[in-house]
Amino acid sequence: MVTQQFIQPDLKWQMDNISCQQAVDLETAPLSAEPGFLLWQKDIPEAYWRLGGQELASRINATKARLAGLAVVLGHHYQREDIIQFADYKGDSFNLARWAAQQRGAEFIVFCGVHFMAEAADILSAPDQQVVLPNMAAGCTMADMADPDDVLDCWQQLEAAGLAESTLPVTYMNSAASLKAFCGDNGGIVCTSSNASAVLQWAFKQRERVLFFPDQHLGRNTGVKLGIPLDQMLVWDPNQPLGGHTVEELRRARIILWRGWCSVHMRFTTKQVAGARAKYPGVTVLVHPECTLEVVQAADLNGSTEFIARAIREAPAGSAWAVGTEINLVSRLARENPDKLVFCLDTVVCPCSTMYRIHPAYLAWVLEELAAGRVVNRLVVPEATALLAKVALDRMLEVH
Ligand code: 13P
Ligand code: SF4
Repeated sequence: MVTQQFIQPDLKWQMDNISCQQAVDLETAPLSAEPGFLLWQKDIPEAYWRLGGQELASRINATKARLAGLAVVLGHHYQREDIIQFADYKGDSFNLARWAAQQRGAEFIVFCGVHFMAEAADILSAPDQQVVLPNMAAGCTMADMADPDDVLDCWQQLEAAGLAESTLPVTYMNSAASLKAFCGDNGGIVCTSSNASAVLQWAFKQRERVLFFPDQHLGRNTGVKLGIPLDQMLVWDPNQPLGGHTVEELRRARIILWRGWCSVHMRFTTKQVAGARAKYPGVTVLVHPECTLEVVQAADLNGSTEFIARAIREAPAGSAWAVGTEINLVSRLARENPDKLVFCLDTVVCPCSTMYRIHPAYLAWVLEELAAGRVVNRLVVPEATALLAKVALDRMLEVH
C-alpha cells in the first residue's frame, strides 16, 4: 500500500518538463512537413500530403459518420492526440486484443496502434472481419529484436541440449505472429504487461523453465515478483552459441530471457526517480514494467498502460504522480486530471516513434477508401500461422 502525501495542484506550474509536454501538444503537421512519413509508407496518394490538421479532422469525422456500424476505430494509449480523439475504443494491448476477440459488430477494425497489435486483432477477430492498419510501417522496435529465425535457432539449441522438453516458450504480445504461432505449437502462451505474473505462474505449472521473449525487462521484473532469484534468470544472446551460457547454466535457469528491450522505457533511470522524490516529497512513482528492474524497484507501483491510466484516474485530488512511460499517455493523463500533478519522469523523453507513424492523413486515407468500397492496408495473418497463434492467445485469454 502506497502512502501518499498530498501536493497542491498549483505545483503543476513549477514543473520543469514543460518542453516535452509541449512537444506532444503541437498542432498536426501535414505529411509533407515530416518527410520521414513519405519514406515509411509511400503509397498514400499525393492528395493527402499537404492536408492540415483541421481539414483532416473534419474529413475523418465525416467519414467515420458515414461508416457508422461498419467500421470501428481502436486506439492504443500511446497514440498521439490527433489520432486518439477518433478512437471508439482505447486501451492497453491486452484490452484491445480482448475487444477484438469479443466484438463481432463491425466488418472493419481500423487499428491505430502498431503492427503486432493489429496482427493480434486479425487473429482473434471473426473471419468476416477485416483489420486495417493505417500505416503499415508502424512497427515496434522491441518486437523486431526477436527475429523468428533466431528464436527457432535458440529452440533448436535447447532441443540439442536436451532442455526443450522442460522449457515452455512464452512470448510477450510485442512479437511477430509467427512467434505466437511457435508458442502455440510448443505448448506455450502469450502474455501482456497486464497479465505476465498470472501467465508465468501458469507456465511454471506446465514446465520447470520458461524461455521468455522479446523483453528481458518484463520477464525479469515478473520473475522477481514471483520470487525467482536473479541468478536463476539468464539472458540469451542470439549472437553467441547457447546464448552465451553452458548447458549446465541453462539447465539451472528458471527463466531464459531474450536480449530485447524497449528504447522508450530504457530512458527511465533511478536518478530520475530520486530527483522526482526530492523535488516532490510524497509523490507516487508509477512506471511500466518494460523499465529496468532497478527503476521498477525504485518506483512505488508498476503496471500496464491501462493500470497506469486507472491508478491516476482513481487517485484523490491533490495527489502527485511521476510516471515512467510513453509521453503521449503521460501528457493525456496530465490534461485529463487537472486536479492532480502528473508528470513524466524523463524531462526530454521522446514519443514512441513507431506509434507516432499513425498520422491523421493515413487515418483519413484508409477511412475514405473504406467509404468508397475499397480496402487499403488490410493486415492479414496467413491462416496456418493464425491458427497456431490463436492457440497461444486463447490460452492467455483463459489464464487472465
Ligand atoms: P501495454 O500492454 O501496457 O499497453 O503496453 C504495450 C507497449 O507496447 C508498451 O510499450
Ligand atoms: Fe514497442 Fe516500446 Fe513502442 Fe511499446 S513503446 S510499441 S515496446 S517501441
